[in-house]
Amino acid sequence: MNADSALPPVRKAVFPVAGLGTRFLPATKASPKEMLPVVDKPLVQYAVEEAVAAGVEVLVFINGRNKNSIPDHFDKAYELEKELEARGKQQMLEVVQGIVPDHVSCVYIRQAEALGLGHAVLCARPVVGNEPFAVLLADDLIDGKGTPSLSQMVEMHARHGCSVLGVEEVDGPDISRYGVVATQQDDGDTASVTGIVEKPPHAEAPSNLGVVGRYILTPRIFDLLERVPRGSGGEYQLTDAIAALLEYEKVLAYRFRGKRYDCGSKLGYLQATVEYALKHPELHEPFRDYLRDAIDNGLLRED
Ligand code: UTP
Repeated sequence: MNADSALPPVRKAVFPVAGLGTRFLPATKASPKEMLPVVDKPLVQYAVEEAVAAGVEVLVFINGRNKNSIPDHFDKAYELEKELEARGKQQMLEVVQGIVPDHVSCVYIRQAEALGLGHAVLCARPVVGNEPFAVLLADDLIDGKGTPSLSQMVEMHARHGCSVLGVEEVDGPDISRYGVVATQQDDGDTASVTGIVEKPPHAEAPSNLGVVGRYILTPRIFDLLERVPRGSGGEYQLTDAIAALLEYEKVLAYRFRGKRYDCGSKLGYLQATVEYALKHPELHEPFRDYLRDAIDNGLLRED
């Protein structure tokens, strides 16, 4: 328990990584899209680092069929480590050994069929049990600019004692690609959620606040996930269970600070790659110089 309240801390995080990733085929035929690297780290590792920084100690991966690269990535790699040691590559050895800190454990659950995000989260129930937990969609890469977005949300959860949804303002027709919240008591930072709907037509969206891939949820969500029928796209939607949760509990929408990259889309993924390369310690200078020269030499000319 937290010293200052009766609220259990957020110790567990669920990473649904069993989606089909159709927008990235054929890259995602045999490997989940969450293993796509941005510069030199797979997307899922950025999300894991964010969760660990927020105090999470148990990582629950909801894994798809034929996609073993995520367990392999977070597993110990004896042969590689021996080889790096033999070659005196100490720095790389530390990089490989430090992927998951010793106090953090990984659990893998198989989602045999990609029946939707709601179904994927429900698969985590036996491990999460009766405590609040985080859900991170690793294809939403968020640069928290100093304070990782999940840490911000954990603080909101501790302060308000309820589920917290990470939201972002999305203008124009793009809003219809998101779960969208209706809110009241909006202080510009947080707002009380009064409704939520998955991928509404632009004209019917209840606001311009789109839910992005960061959630802190109370365990009651599992009972509701058991009951939701198939929703948008024929999938079991987490959004529908959150809508049902509103009948029992307060839910908060939180505009996290930071920049989000939609790495589930090719354009967002490329934007993340360019911007992370421009701030990478080894690459920022040579990559910036390359971009400048290439643009001066007509890279962006359309003729
Ligand atoms: P998306 O809506 O991005 O779907 O899933 P997708 O299948 O991964 O990608 P596209 O649209 O076909 O290109 C959102 C998140 O939920 C996970 C995905 O891995 C992603 O992190 N997910 C989705 C599951 O784990 N299981 C599912 O059945 C569906």
